[in-house]
Formats: sequence, structure tokens, C-alpha cells
Amino acid sequence: MKRRNFSPFGYFLFFINVAAVVTCAVLVYSAIDGMNTAAIAAIMLAVVVTLAALCTLVDFIRRRFIDGKITDEIASATARMAHGDYSVRLNPRHQYNNYDEYDVIMVNLNSLAAELAKIEMMNSDFISNVSHEIKTPLSVISNYAAALKKGGLDEDTREKYITTLTGASKRLSDLVVNVLKLNKLEHSNIAADLKEFDLAESLRNSILDFEEAVDGKNLQLDCDIDELSLYSDKSLLETVWHNLISNAVKFTPEGGRITVSVKNENGYAVVSVSDTGCGIAGDTGERIFDKFYQGDTSHAQEGNGLGLAMVKRVIDILGGEISVSSKVGEGSTFTVKLKGLK
Ligand SMILES: Nc1ncnc2c1ncn2[C@@H]1O[C@H](COP(=O)(O)OP(=O)(O)OP(=O)(O)O)[C@@H](O)[C@H]1O
Ligand SMILES: [Mg+2]
Repeated sequence: MKRRNFSPFGYFLFFINVAAVVTCAVLVYSAIDGMNTAAIAAIMLAVVVTLAALCTLVDFIRRRFIDGKITDEIASATARMAHGDYSVRLNPRHQYNNYDEYDVIMVNLNSLAAELAKIEMMNSDFISNVSHEIKTPLSVISNYAAALKKGGLDEDTREKYITTLTGASKRLSDLVVNVLKLNKLEHSNIAADLKEFDLAESLRNSILDFEEAVDGKNLQLDCDIDELSLYSDKSLLETVWHNLISNAVKFTPEGGRITVSVKNENGYAVVSVSDTGCGIAGDTGERIFDKFYQGDTSHAQEGNGLGLAMVKRVIDILGGEISVSSKVGEGSTFTVKLKGLK
């Protein structure tokens, strides 16, 4: 934001005043030649006092009717904001290039109000999303628990109900864990715990966590992993690998293929997770990193749409980059670019 440069006009006026006083004094002196010194001093004093009173009056009018109006406007805007009204917007009086101090304060207050309104909306969205995500598994738990309590079920049905109950409670606990994790990533000033670690090994371990799921869906898993060491936060990055691989497994149908690769590209560690799954439509792609966004409703029962929000946050903390390329019906590739190669 550019502020209007210092204007010498005020100083110029001041010196004009001084010059006027001196000129008046000289005029008075020449007009009343022969007058005694006490009378001249008295007249001089009267001239100075009159000019000072005039200047004070002009300044008072300026402050009262121009500056006073602006400060009143700013004061009432801040009072409204203090009471939670963030719709406040003030109009600067000059063009952008000519902003004065008041204009700068007004523009900053506008940005502050807009930011606070955004935070308030995000908080209320977050609460309604969490409540919605909690409601579904909770009602499953309460209905199935009631049915089990009633009794009179055969062994197979009992078994089925218990499996559903376990699934719903796992969903709830995953939600709580992810909400807490994301909250920590977003709100506490997380300092990355930077250490040198074996990137290839960290990726292999994350892949192993999904061995059962990969086998269960009969997926082909290809790895193209270079042996690289990275100076970064191993545990934060494991959250990234976990979520990207979990999505690849979840959104790839039976018999599909997942490829995990890590390469040194121009001094950056580039990790990519590709799949031959359902792919991501253009408009969905723009929102997949938003909290609670789930583009593919057929998988809405699995997860809460928090995984990629966490991934994005971690990548931001580590100063890396993440990109996605995808074609509906053909698959997706998530690519993470990280600095810190050793
Ligand atoms: N590999 C992928 N293939 C197709 N769609 C994907 C893929 N990864 C993410 N998406 C889309 O992005 C959305 C958001 O992903 P994200 O990981 O944040 O949530 P989720 O997997 O649905 O739930 P959670 O991660 O909380 O278990 C998904 O619901 C899906 O629509
Ligand atoms: Mg996910």
C-alpha cells in the first residue's frame, strides 16, 4: 500500500504566516514612525495574536469538519467490529496513488473486517461439517446397538451388526484424530522437526501399511524408488505419503494399478503417487484440498475429506509444492516436490 508523500504545503502556509506578521510589523513601524516603543510592541502583539487566532480558527474548522468526520467514521466502524459486525466497509477519500494516513487506516480496516468475516464463516462451516460427519456414524451406532440389545438375532446378523458398529466407531475415531491433527497443523505454529532421514525407506514403510488393502483389491503396486536422503520432517511427510497412498487405493477399482516413485529432479526430491482410478473432474479438482470436500460421493462413507487438506498444510509448512494431474476414468497423479535433498 502506497501512502501519499509528505506535503510541504502546511509548512509553506506557516512561513507565509510568519512573513505576513513581519510585513505587518514593518508596515506598522513605518506608518507610525515616532511612536514610542511600548505602543509599537503593543500593536505588534495585537497583530501576532490576531493572526494566531485566525490560524487556530482555520485549524479548528479543518479538524472539526474534515478530520473529525473521518475519525468519527473510523471510531464507529471499529466499534461495530468490536461488537462482531464485520460487514463494515469504509471509503477512502483519495485515489489509490494519493492515499493519506486516514485512507491507509480505512483500507487496512476494510481488510481486517473482511478477514475476520472469512474466519467467522470458516469456523461456523467447520463446526457444521464436524457435526454432520459425527451425526452419521453416531446414528448408526445408536440404531445397531439398540437392535443388538433387543436380541432375537441369528448369529450371522449379529456378526454383521457388530462389524457395522466397529466400522462406525472407527470412522468416528478417525474423524476425531484427523480433526485434531488438522487443527494442530493449522493453528499451532508448528515448527518442522528437520532431520536427515532415508526418504526411500520412509516411502516403503508407508506403502507396507497398505499391503493388506492393496491385496484385498487385487491392485498392482509398482515402485520406482531412488535411494535418496532428505533433510526434512519425516513424521509430517509420513502423513503426506499415508494420505496420498490411501486415496490411490480407495479411488482405484479392483485390478487397477498404483505407482509410487521418487526421483531427484534438478536437486529436488519429487515423489509421485499415480493410480488408474476414477480420476478427478475439473471442477472437483479445484476443491480437493478444501477441508471436508469429497468429490466422489460414492466413497463418502470412507473418510471425511480431511486427508488432502492435511497434506496441503504439511507441504506448505515444509515449503514444498504439490500438484495434481488427472483424467476422469483414467486415473490421477499427485506429485510432491520437496527441497532438502542430501
Ligand atoms: N487418487 C484420487 N483419485 C480420485 N479422486 C481423488 C483422489 N484423491 C483424492 N480424490 C478426491 O479428492 C477428495 C478429497 O480427498 P481427501 O483425501 O481430502 O478426502 P477423502 O479421502 O474423501 O477422506 P479422508 O482423507 O478424510 O479419509 C476425495 O473425496 C476425492 O473426491
Ligand atoms: Mg483421503
